[in-house]
Amino acid sequence: MNIPFTMLPGSVITDEGQGHLPRFTVAPKTCGSHIYLHGAHVTHWQPSGHAPVLWVSRQSAFAGDKPIRGGVPLCFPWFGAKADDASAPMHGLARTAEWQLREAHERNDATQLVFVPREAVGTKAGWPQHAAVEFIVTAGSHLEMEFRVVNQGQSPLRYEIALHTYFTVSDVRHIEISGTEGLKYFDKVAQEERQQEDAPLRFTGETDRMYNGTQSTCVLRDAGLKREIRVEKSGSNSTVIWNPWIDKARKMPDFGDEEWTGMVCIETANVGSDAITLQPGQSHATRAIIQVRRI
Ligand code: BG6
Repeated sequence: MNIPFTMLPGSVITDEGQGHLPRFTVAPKTCGSHIYLHGAHVTHWQPSGHAPVLWVSRQSAFAGDKPIRGGVPLCFPWFGAKADDASAPMHGLARTAEWQLREAHERNDATQLVFVPREAVGTKAGWPQHAAVEFIVTAGSHLEMEFRVVNQGQSPLRYEIALHTYFTVSDVRHIEISGTEGLKYFDKVAQEERQQEDAPLRFTGETDRMYNGTQSTCVLRDAGLKREIRVEKSGSNSTVIWNPWIDKARKMPDFGDEEWTGMVCIETANVGSDAITLQPGQSHATRAIIQVRRI
């Protein structure tokens, strides 16, 4: 059921976002946040006393048929190219799907919104039939995002999911991310398996890494912005870390040529060998909790 907007709690207002797309502005006393119905896309979160945490490209499309470049695109039910159909859209269907708000409430100085796909989404080719999907966003002093899937069908349901979170950084060349030290990863740039040295990740070129089998918290340390962003997770066995660097940024129409220095993605995911398989009746929640601390 779609709740009437007149029944929204006081910390939530509906407005028009960029491209005239419908958006919620969520502002409990602990933060400010924007969430679009297009893609159930969180584009902004700013805990009180801090600068905005999420990055969105100035060149992003804001249109019903295109994903938003930045914030938190939802990659579901597949990640990257679809294994059995090269013509299918990259990163699945959820980020360009229309969603609706099912619930909204305030608790403990945070506001929680529950989104479900609109009915028409279920008819899209490639969308898993008999999957009940919910995306729960809790915006407060922390940002919590939970992507829940229940298999209501009679046969196993396999899917990939990534909360493809774009963070604003002072300069990607001067940050470091801890949490993946010594881990094996698939390097999507070199197209080979590699192992990270036993040190935090620093960025010196195009970076596109898929770490499988990790539940570790990642901490992004940004001395330039004098802050640490902590990405904790549960129900997630993969982490993807991405920065396009110079050439790839130039090739993307919805990404400014110079913008690559100001962003990095740390994606809370279950992808590749960590794809989820749900037996009939089973459910799974992929959850990220993001916090910021001054340093
Ligand atoms: C990352 C992938 O998650 O998303 C990259 O690992 C990809 O390979 C990037 O380039 C952006 O994808 P898209 O479809 O939003 O341009």
